[in-house]
Amino acid sequence: MNYNFDEVIDRRGTGCLKYDKATEFLGGDDLLPMWIADMDLRVPDFIMDALRKRTEHPVFGYFYHTEEFYHSIVRWMQRRHNWNISSKWICFSPGIVAGLSFLVQNFTEKGDKVLIQTPVYPPFYEVVEKNGRQLVYNPLRIEGDRFVMDYSDLEEKLKQGPKLMIISNPHNPLGRCWTPDELRQVAELCLKHHVILISDEIHSDLIMRGFRHTPVASLSEEIAQNTITCMSPSKTFNLAGLFTSEIIIPNPELRAKFKNFMNDTVHIYGNVFGDVALEAAYTHGAEWLDQLCGYLTDNVQYCKEFLAKNIPQIRTYSHEATYLMWLDFKELGLTHEQLSRKLLDGAKVGFNDGKAFGTAGDNCMRINLACPRATVAEAMSRLQKVF
Ligand SMILES: Cc1ncc(COP(=O)(O)O)c(C=O)c1O
Repeated sequence: MNYNFDEVIDRRGTGCLKYDKATEFLGGDDLLPMWIADMDLRVPDFIMDALRKRTEHPVFGYFYHTEEFYHSIVRWMQRRHNWNISSKWICFSPGIVAGLSFLVQNFTEKGDKVLIQTPVYPPFYEVVEKNGRQLVYNPLRIEGDRFVMDYSDLEEKLKQGPKLMIISNPHNPLGRCWTPDELRQVAELCLKHHVILISDEIHSDLIMRGFRHTPVASLSEEIAQNTITCMSPSKTFNLAGLFTSEIIIPNPELRAKFKNFMNDTVHIYGNVFGDVALEAAYTHGAEWLDQLCGYLTDNVQYCKEFLAKNIPQIRTYSHEATYLMWLDFKELGLTHEQLSRKLLDGAKVGFNDGKAFGTAGDNCMRINLACPRATVAEAMSRLQKVF
């Protein structure tokens, strides 16, 4: 079956953050919103049908995560990521950001250090600082046309005694699909310095043509025992509003500690529609997802080619995963404030401000390309008019 990702869907007036709150959050009027990380694309029919079927039953009472919920996750990990997991390893979480915050609360004490690689998804900072823990940074470096990890700096930072390290795999906002070798080096350094590794793999299904995702925990048994993996169908199938995700913990002691914490704080249930959607997505989603990744790869290619031809001062990097692309405007020689105003008031495009991802985001922006090609084309022509 061929899916149509060109359909333009009007999301206004649905309590939609991306459209209905763009002015409030970004500060410009009449913006073409290409910011917060959800898709302007239709949820596929096999998920909509499962949700419709569930609404036909007139009771939405208390429920539990059924065997099928766990088995659909196990099957997806096996088929999509070649990762054999046990259903016992799976813990429910009402969203990944909440899950990261629970993990920080559970595995560290106030004042403890947590290591992150910057620039990175802003809630990585927030779940550490808002819980009264301290951040330690391992900045990512530019090498050629891509961002890479700095292992000697990483080892120095690990020597400072953080309790946890959180990575984004693949990386939001830099678009890297980390290789097995890169991940192995991080995971082995964490093992050497007795630091638990949390791998946020929410973007693991959104891989560009020619690349392949590696769950860190699939690299070896020893690494699996020291790694906590956060996954979800929410980005992949456009279900972020359902707040249903899975945290996979192979180590029985870490898992028991986390499950007790989730039990004690009553965060184990979620909502019935989240489970229905997850099961349908992970059971029937492979073919749709293959086509989606092809479409997103073409969107990325379109954007890169347009910029290279028409505004080469806007630099892009090797883009291997996620529908969120990093745009570097430094060569234009503007201040960050001038750049923001030009984009918001001149071009009227709503991107995520690069500075929200860390100081390395000065003069950078993140564009969301999970939209019909016509929207990407419109954004590019708006940029061309002002630059
Ligand atoms: C790396 C990363 N983790 C987590 C999230 C959000 O997860 P959730 O909506 O499940 O809290 C995002 C959303 O953009 C993300 O990019």
